Amino acid sequence: MLVDRFGRQARKLRISVTDRCNFRCIYCMPEDAVFKDRNELLTFTEIERVTRVAVSLGIETVRLTGGEPLARRDVEYLVELLAKIPGLRAVNMTTNGYFLPDKAVALKEAGLKGVNISLDTLDRDRFVLLTRRDYLQRVLEGIDAALAAGFEPVKLNAVVMRGYNDDEVERFVEFARTRRITVRFIEFMPLDNGSVWNNDLVVPAREILARAQAVAPLEPVPHSPHDPARLYRFRDGLGEIGVIASVTEPFCRYCDRIRLTADGKLRNCLFGLDEYDVREVIRSGGSDEDIAAVFQQAVADKWAGHLINREGFVKPQRTMHAIGG
Ligand code: 5AD
Ligand code: SF4
Repeated sequence: MLVDRFGRQARKLRISVTDRCNFRCIYCMPEDAVFKDRNELLTFTEIERVTRVAVSLGIETVRLTGGEPLARRDVEYLVELLAKIPGLRAVNMTTNGYFLPDKAVALKEAGLKGVNISLDTLDRDRFVLLTRRDYLQRVLEGIDAALAAGFEPVKLNAVVMRGYNDDEVERFVEFARTRRITVRFIEFMPLDNGSVWNNDLVVPAREILARAQAVAPLEPVPHSPHDPARLYRFRDGLGEIGVIASVTEPFCRYCDRIRLTADGKLRNCLFGLDEYDVREVIRSGGSDEDIAAVFQQAVADKWAGHLINREGFVKPQRTMHAIGG
């Protein structure tokens, strides 16, 4: 099993399947981002092998991320391979939603369980400012496609940034209430390699909650401490929201995740500075035990938690698109 020095057990594996994306969100990657060569990426067969080993070590669920996971060709085939792994309870995906109108049905049939769709604004001009692409309408269609395809759950992720979209909390709340989708507000984290983030842009979760509470009364929903989102439902029964307070109230103590980058490196933390090379082990003919040993090492080295806004914090070199949210 993958238990670290602080007693935390890794049960969730986040797999980035590509560092490419058809958006250029300002907090995630530069317009002229440089991407890995395709032969640097793990193949589907390699990803499946790594996942099998991970499941044998106690991993229970997988989330596919990117970049934009649907920008990798035929990713539904990977979903199908992973969904068949005995002992793996769920394959989920975090996506920008753009390709869902085309792909939702195929993904559902391949065995994808839930989708989280990233959407930070409901205003077209702001969407262009934040993502550098004029695709809001398409993402809204993607949300409808996900609901129609029957994914369970469908959630929305909104990164809140002061002065950019923090005045839209109420609109998102209404969206959650009318669409019956959980909207999760995420505090802005320093993962952009220094281009936009500063602490003044972080809107604390408690402020977000207060704004939502002003729309309609909320009550907490019991949830696992391993879920980074604290959940609240509206007392009138219409809808649910979540807040992810990664910066102001870190939940590192309950972290149960480990990450695999598209180029086959394990990372034990979003903010980790070390990487553990699985691809090298695989491509030099290593055994499943050798792959397992890389997992064990990554977990053994895991630190207590990130130090955002504290002394000693070092921004990771990779930006979000290359780590995989
Ligand atoms: N801070 C907070 N959330 C971020 N995401 C991407 N970059 C950041 C950041 N700097 C979000 C994406 C996606 C999820 C995986 O992480 O919007 O929804
Ligand atoms: Fe693409 Fe998601 Fe990064 Fe935006 S946040 S550029 S949608 S990977």
